[in-house]
Amino acid sequence: MERYDLTFRRGFRPAWEGVPAAAHRCVFGVDYVSARGMQGGELFFTSYGWRLAEHLLPQHWFNDRQYRLLGRRLEGSTGAVYKFPQAGWRGDRRDLVIKFSRVAQHPGDVYIWPEVAGAWTGGTMFLSPFEEFANLNHLRLSGPDACIPTQLPLAIYSPPLHFHDWQLGRHVGRFSAYDRRLEADQTEVDNPPVHYEWDRLYILLYGWLDGVDVEEAHENGRISKASMEQLSIRVDGRLACSGLVVLDHKPRHIIVRPAAQTGLRKGRADVLYGLVDYELLVGREGTVFPKRPRG
Ligand SMILES: Nc1ncnc2c1ncn2[C@@H]1O[C@H](COP(=O)(O)OP(=O)(O)OP(=O)(O)O)[C@@H](O)[C@H]1O
Ligand SMILES: [Mg+2]
Repeated sequence: MERYDLTFRRGFRPAWEGVPAAAHRCVFGVDYVSARGMQGGELFFTSYGWRLAEHLLPQHWFNDRQYRLLGRRLEGSTGAVYKFPQAGWRGDRRDLVIKFSRVAQHPGDVYIWPEVAGAWTGGTMFLSPFEEFANLNHLRLSGPDACIPTQLPLAIYSPPLHFHDWQLGRHVGRFSAYDRRLEADQTEVDNPPVHYEWDRLYILLYGWLDGVDVEEAHENGRISKASMEQLSIRVDGRLACSGLVVLDHKPRHIIVRPAAQTGLRKGRADVLYGLVDYELLVGREGTVFPKRPRG
């Protein structure tokens, strides 16, 4: 079992502000605390994840493929995405989403959201894990018009395992575009720079968003087809307010929450909804990544 010292040899895990500067990273405007394991595994915690850092250690969900044995693969995922039961966060229960990044893989014949399909010139490339968190962060920090509940970005984990490109399905010809963007970003930071290691996996950890997806709600007769379509357009409109689009936007990516006793609030404008899946959440103007001004 790979050990991580989250205390930085102090005997207790410091609050975010107390973490030594050498462990801080800033990638595409998102701050992380980086922890390296004794065998070379690496964890990048966001400030949300750092509060739960002990619970996110790979020994709890990754080692011995626990994510497969104790978690369940999400139906409808074309990638490798798992829901993992997680208990004990301040007594409440919040499950994890474990998502293997598809960076540099060929997205195949991705269905493109018709609102942007005609004008889209940016190509379809899955975001790298750092770009995914960055664009999500951009959305989360957008003003109230754009505000959509999302899964909480907690951490990026890169296990101490090495693979051939073909084992990971990555296209070597795509690496340079990702590397260029990351290098350009990392030349500006004060912290030690971050690089991609193309022979390693990247796994994104999110907090689960309670509810069911809109397509499932429709199939169960709890939401009408018209409401499903309206909601898709409304969510896309909110993303547009912050200059973003989910290239493969679809009802399966919108999560609705049943109101207490009454089931979903059918067709009502105030239905509770949120967005999942950010691997193709990109700048609307054809840019792959919208830069967030540093604050
Ligand atoms: N937090 C959540 N709450 C409820 N359902 C979820 C949640 N996260 C994911 N799902 C369900 O799991 C499905 C698959 O997840 P996700 O979209 O991240 O996988 P994917 O491999 O990227 O799929 P796709 O290729 O369709 O984009 C979602 O479409 C949704 O139905
Ligand atoms: Mg997806």
